[in-house]
Amino acid sequence: MVHTRTMSCLLVLSLAVLTRVVAALDCAPQCRCYGNTTDCSHGVLTEFPRIQLIPSSTEILLMNYNRISEVRRSPRLPNLLELNLEDNSITGLTRLGIFIHNPNLQVLRLGGNVISTVPASAFLWLSQLVRLFLNRNTIETITAFGSNSFVGSLKMLDLQDNKLTSIGIGTFTGVSLLTELNLSSNNISTIEDGSFSHLKELRVLYLHSNHIGALNDATFLGMPALTRLTLGHNKIQTLPDMTFTGSTNLEFLDLSFNDISTVPRTAFSGLYNLTTLLLDRNNISSIEDGAFGDLVKLQSLVLRDNALHNMSASTFTTPDLLELDLAENSLAAVRREDFARLTKLKYLHLHGNVITRVEDGSFANLNNLLVLEIFGNRLTSVSAATFEGTQ
Ligand SMILES: *[C@@H]1O[C@H](CO)[C@@H](O)[C@H](O)[C@H]1NC(C)=O
Ligand SMILES: *[C@@H]1O[C@H](CO)[C@@H](O)[C@H](O)[C@H]1NC(C)=O
Ligand SMILES: *[C@@H]1O[C@H](CO)[C@@H](O)[C@H](O)[C@H]1NC(C)=O
Ligand SMILES: *[C@@H]1O[C@H](CO)[C@@H](O)[C@H](O)[C@H]1NC(C)=O
Ligand SMILES: *[C@@H]1O[C@H](CO)[C@@H](O)[C@H](O)[C@H]1NC(C)=O
Ligand SMILES: *[C@@H]1O[C@H](CO)[C@@H](O)[C@H](O)[C@H]1NC(C)=O
Repeated sequence: MVHTRTMSCLLVLSLAVLTRVVAALDCAPQCRCYGNTTDCSHGVLTEFPRIQLIPSSTEILLMNYNRISEVRRSPRLPNLLELNLEDNSITGLTRLGIFIHNPNLQVLRLGGNVISTVPASAFLWLSQLVRLFLNRNTIETITAFGSNSFVGSLKMLDLQDNKLTSIGIGTFTGVSLLTELNLSSNNISTIEDGSFSHLKELRVLYLHSNHIGALNDATFLGMPALTRLTLGHNKIQTLPDMTFTGSTNLEFLDLSFNDISTVPRTAFSGLYNLTTLLLDRNNISSIEDGAFGDLVKLQSLVLRDNALHNMSASTFTTPDLLELDLAENSLAAVRREDFARLTKLKYLHLHGNVITRVEDGSFANLNNLLVLEIFGNRLTSVSAATFEGTQ
């Protein structure tokens, strides 16, 4: 009797010990498991931990900052929603169906590797994927997002900092639900006409820091949802007529750090919703009258560091403008009519020009002006009437 009780006591005890060991083993020694997250980041792993050591309820698996150079097949985790493989040394995604065991994956992070090609087959069965990060790789060509794409539900695609040189009409035909596309910091010099015209939902397109030299009226054809477009740090020399009429919902347009010399009258036609226009650090010496005429909602116009030497009464006609930056140009004079229509203006930057003369009353209509910077010019005499109307 006594003997039996001791036995069962021992049994209970060893069972308890055993369960504790199993529970502890449930999380791989290199990882930390909490909630439904398994965090194996910042280690020296060269592959995924054994599947027995990853809790089957895992929804987020962090494998970033390890030493994985090849992904054969990701672990069988049907609940997995997010997989982070950033900052490893993965060279390719050429195996068929790498993520076949994660049919519910929504977010896949592959940034900071050395991936050079992305075939469509890499993403087989990822029909729920909404965000895909491929930034900071060495991708030269992509075929994964064309008509044979397996990731048709994708909403965000990050290809920033790769080695893409051209975008073609078929490049994005298979990802028509995209709302954000980041192509900045590549080496893109050619964009085939209509390349983005399948992206009817696209709201954000980043193309800054590339080698784009020429735009035309078909480059951004058919993008009715686009609100934000960056083209800064490229090699754009001319702004053809009607370049942006395919994206009349634009609110933010960045064309800074290019080689534009003239702003033609119809360059920004139809952009009735634009609030910010960045044209700084170009070589603009002439702005045709009425060039900003359609920009009725424009609030910020930045023309800093160009080659402007004159303005006219028909240059700045946008009634809602709050900020006008004309610093570091070659303006020689300010005349009464130059800013007369900008009654809401709060910030006016005119420093670093060669202004010798400011006509009396030039700022008379600017009743809301908070900041006027006009230092670093060649003014010799200023009368009380010069700043008449300002507070
Ligand atoms: C973990 O996932 C299970 C279903 O797989 C769910 O019931 C539970 O609420 C999740 N727990 C946390 C902390 O998210
Ligand atoms: C690229 O653009 C997307 C879309 O707006 C953004 O979420 C992401 O952070 C950008 N990537 C980088 C590396 O800046
Ligand atoms: C970018 O492309 C140009 C050709 O358009 C090439 O001459 C140059 O070497 C490329 N630069 C890089 C960093 O790949
Ligand atoms: C501009 O924005 C308004 C809402 O603010 C919207 O109704 C309109 O369709 C937008 N597009 C154009 C081209 O005016
Ligand atoms: C700026 O434009 C002028 C002509 O308006 C041209 O002579 C000059 O070379 C251009 N400068 C640069 C840096 O492109
Ligand atoms: C300035 O003068 C040039 C001709 O000298 C003219 O083409 C241009 O439209 C004028 N106005 C502006 C704002 O550049």
